[in-house]
Amino acid sequence: MGITVKGNEITFSEDMFIVSKTDTKGNITYGNETFIEISGYSEDELIGAPHNILRHKDMPRVVFKLLWDKVQSGEEIFAYVKNRTKSGKYYWVHTYVTPTFSIDNSKIIGYHSVRRSPNSEAIKLIAPIYAKMLQAEKFGSMEASAKILNDTLQSLGVSYEKFILSYE
Ligand SMILES: Cc1cc2nc3c(=O)[nH]c(=O)nc-3n(C[C@H](O)[C@H](O)[C@H](O)COP(=O)(O)O)c2cc1C
Repeated sequence: MGITVKGNEITFSEDMFIVSKTDTKGNITYGNETFIEISGYSEDELIGAPHNILRHKDMPRVVFKLLWDKVQSGEEIFAYVKNRTKSGKYYWVHTYVTPTFSIDNSKIIGYHSVRRSPNSEAIKLIAPIYAKMLQAEKFGSMEASAKILNDTLQSLGVSYEKFILSYE
């Protein structure tokens, strides 16, 4: 139970949820205790900071493009994300991001995300795919990276979302 540190990896128990909110530009407006504790940043450091403060260099850009495209168009998305803590450790999350609408539902006023501990089998599968995508982004293009994700999912016969949800 709780938070476990093994080498550079931080894992956390299934009953823990990392919650954060951002404005429309992705600047953090709220973080719960668990977010503060696991990320290693103080509340003061997090509030107002861009959410990419947690960006890990192993994450392909295409995943964040997918995330932003979805939420900016008013939809929700599930994704696996590897995050970097203040001290340089990492933690994987199964994240769910949704837009928050104004009271009259006419516009998006921010975003909300809830993350939980991911299934370790899913991470074993997704980590090498992300690594391949990253290589494609470094030496090829965003399109080449997206193609790797799409081709892999197609060979499994699922959408990115279904793939993620199948490992609930
Ligand atoms: C609600 C919300 C939560 C986010 N959570 C994370 C996160 O935990 N880790 C992360 O690297 N990016 C997260 N992002 C995406 C970042 O805004 C950013 O797009 C990403 O870190 C890539 O950085 P870059 O756009 O500077 O390349 C989140 C975005 C939103 C809207």
